[in-house]
Amino acid sequence: MPATYRVTVEPLGQQVDCREDQPILDACLRAGIWLPHACTHGTCGTCKVEILDGEVDHGDASTFALMDFERDEGKTLLCCARPRSDVTIEGDVEVEEGVTTYPVRDFVGTVAAVEDCATDTRRLLIDLDHDIAFNPGQYVSLEVPGTGVSRTYSMANPPAESRRIELHIRRTPGGLASDGWIFKTLAPGDTVRLSGPYGRFFWRPARTEPAICIAGGTGLAPIKAMIRHVLETGADRKITLYHGGRTAAHMYDVDYFRALEEAHPDRFRYRPCLSDEQAAGYQTGLVTDVLAAEMDTCRGHVAYVCGPPPMVEAALRTLMAKRLFPRDIYREDFYDASDKAAATVRSPLLKR
Ligand SMILES: Cc1cc2nc3c(=O)[nH]c(=O)nc-3n(C[C@H](O)[C@H](O)[C@H](O)COP(=O)(O)OP(=O)(O)OC[C@H]3O[C@@H](n4cnc5c(N)ncnc54)[C@H](O)[C@@H]3O)c2cc1C
Ligand code: FES
Repeated sequence: MPATYRVTVEPLGQQVDCREDQPILDACLRAGIWLPHACTHGTCGTCKVEILDGEVDHGDASTFALMDFERDEGKTLLCCARPRSDVTIEGDVEVEEGVTTYPVRDFVGTVAAVEDCATDTRRLLIDLDHDIAFNPGQYVSLEVPGTGVSRTYSMANPPAESRRIELHIRRTPGGLASDGWIFKTLAPGDTVRLSGPYGRFFWRPARTEPAICIAGGTGLAPIKAMIRHVLETGADRKITLYHGGRTAAHMYDVDYFRALEEAHPDRFRYRPCLSDEQAAGYQTGLVTDVLAAEMDTCRGHVAYVCGPPPMVEAALRTLMAKRLFPRDIYREDFYDASDKAAATVRSPLLKR
């Protein structure tokens, strides 16, 4: 039996039990104590806190996200840290206006469909054994069978569809989960284990400004959840979606979004962009270039950006050059294992 320690989260004064083999963030999220986090794999630094008292094992926190001097100063990454004694931490527990948070739960799922929807891209539909409550844009952590590791994938379904989740997965050559499992052996009827919801990249209902959504590749998944949620709940919001891929064969759900645009011409605009070829019905260029050419200023908007880290950084630079402030930009970087091993370029202007 692993030992269990008591974790106290200040300034709330709330206490949770945490096993010695359990990340402290996991124990807090399961107990309904919401603490900031993004990647949950020790890469982004969002979950960094100060340890006021007690000992932790820093686990496999990236040495770039948690520098040696920060470890010496008593900082840790809660998504990797496991307690070695009773621990007190100083958490950033600010609750945002209009946002409900949901505790993390475990699920057993049955794969309902596996579809090749674009080059190196698969759509999975998974039926859960019970409903999942989440904010549109959040993600799940999927266990890779027989490996003891899990990978994170954003839900493309809106919260109203709480029993069947939709995931969009890009194949990473040599990748354990994608290349080695999801694109190889995973089939309808298979049982999968997952937990969620995680993350703070979700639709902010309190932000009434028109939204600019920028997605690279499968970065479309959480943004599709947001767009569907807004349009299907009849919320009075305007959204423009810039979705980028290399060629038309790399794009998916194009007809779906064109139909949405036709059905909601006052509320939804769709701009599919191809960086490596010209094709009828698509804009040509990187999403950021297309956006920059179309919009003189982004002032008065709110932006949601998701995809590979270099694309997210490029989008942030474009949005800020067009007069959007960091507080108006929400981001999700699809970090993978290679980002953990490398110092990823970070925008110093943005709190993560
Ligand atoms: C919050 C979040 C949400 C995400 N949502 C999605 C989503 O909706 N859809 C999606 O497609 N992806 C998403 N991702 C990315 C996804 O979680 C995986 O990282 C991705 O699928 C790759 O996993 P893998 O197991 O196939 O590859 P991995 O085995 O993790 O390998 C990834 C790459 O890293 C290299 N690598 C492995 N180990 C090392 C090492 N030690 N040093 C250097 N390089 C190494 C591999 O060769 C490979 O090129 C998300 C990521 C995050 C953080
Ligand atoms: S959430 Fe802990 S480092 Fe990203």
